[in-house]
Amino acid sequence: MSTRVLTGITTTGTPHLGNYAGAIRPAIAASQVDNVESFYFLADYHALIKCDDPARIQRSRLEIAATWLAGGLDVERATFYRQSDIPEITELMWLLTCVAGKGLLNRAHAYKASVDQNEAAGLDPDAGVTMGLFSYPVLMAADILMFNATKVPVGRDQVQHVEMARDIGQRFNHLFGQGRELFAMPEAVIEEDVATLPGLDGRKMSKSYDNTIPLFSSSKELKSAISRFVTDSKLPGEPKDPDNSHLFTLYQAFSTSAEQAVMRADLTAGLAWGEAKQRLFTLLDEQLAEPRERYHDFMAKPNDMEDILQAGAVKARKVATPFLAQLREAVGLRSFAVQGTDVTTSKKKAKKASRVVSFKDEEGFRFRILSVAGEDLVLSKAFADGRSAGMASKHVQTAQEALDIRDTDQQLSIWFEGECIAQSQTYSSAELCAAALVELRNALTTES
Ligand code: TRP
Repeated sequence: MSTRVLTGITTTGTPHLGNYAGAIRPAIAASQVDNVESFYFLADYHALIKCDDPARIQRSRLEIAATWLAGGLDVERATFYRQSDIPEITELMWLLTCVAGKGLLNRAHAYKASVDQNEAAGLDPDAGVTMGLFSYPVLMAADILMFNATKVPVGRDQVQHVEMARDIGQRFNHLFGQGRELFAMPEAVIEEDVATLPGLDGRKMSKSYDNTIPLFSSSKELKSAISRFVTDSKLPGEPKDPDNSHLFTLYQAFSTSAEQAVMRADLTAGLAWGEAKQRLFTLLDEQLAEPRERYHDFMAKPNDMEDILQAGAVKARKVATPFLAQLREAVGLRSFAVQGTDVTTSKKKAKKASRVVSFKDEEGFRFRILSVAGEDLVLSKAFADGRSAGMASKHVQTAQEALDIRDTDQQLSIWFEGECIAQSQTYSSAELCAAALVELRNALTTES
């Protein structure tokens, strides 16, 4: 199984150097690794929770999309989309809302912080708290679980949300999985070394501290921001301690180890801060020149970005649509047409049995399961004797929802007593495979 990496960026602001080096650049690098499937998206539904300025939302979506693309994200390889283009996510959010404990959400840091502030101010604890803010972690759980992501790169402040996604997913698996893992369990990944890129005042670079360095503005603005970088008051010629210098930390995030060694030696030998700033500027300006140009190209062609994101949405929905269909099935939102009833009289059982055909070939005793329309779905292994084939086939016909059907690498398999007893063909897409799974369940639980 390949690893699925997924992360989103809330579209409320203009990306700064910290966002780029701390989140976007490493995510793009991760997407280039073999056996990694990456899902990167603009969390624009999340943006609505914090921002009621439509112009700002729209501007930020464009800027963040252009930043990913300028950074070199290969949209053929990764799946790159806007959250709001995937209606399955909000639908899943409802399914999850119905299993998420209110008590769990009461403990979310962001919500608790609002309550604490209100209480300190003598206000109603929920003053100004919207259901969007309260349910923020459930929407995030839907983002993650929709794509069965296993690795979720996030900032430290988001780790609790990923843990909540695990909790909610586990609860759902337990209630509706019939022993199957409907959702994979996600894990938060924190990039320790880059997550804490220092801002102009030495604290973590963050818009809320107003200490950010602009990313794709002009060289002049970059230079003027760097000139404001806070350093100690050591004079030119006095030795500086690189390990206690935020400027050096930032320099390290963008330089080779050879460049770092030179800078380190020069600072220790008394390089003036003004000169060090100049070097940092040159380094950043050179590295950002190319992506900066691409960024402005993309910003000038919003239609191109629209096309890219529409294509990304199609790709994401290829995964989301069949998976949501399976989840709807699981909770009991099923088609009347194919569902029949759950009443299992022996007469109906006999009809179900007709979907399972037993036969013998030169290798042994087998059975095959046909879809309601009569197409082959799975073929059993060859059993040594008729009795074991019969037991396996009986299990398949009577286990109902508890039947252990697995969907791996676009192939279905049925498991019984620790072994794989039947397999489907390998389908050419995950979508076809998921559709076959629905048919297989129908064939085994439906009267005709
Ligand atoms: N809440 C995240 C943030 O503000 C953004 C986000 C939304 C996200 N959905 C996600 C991150 C799913 C990772 C996975 O940083």
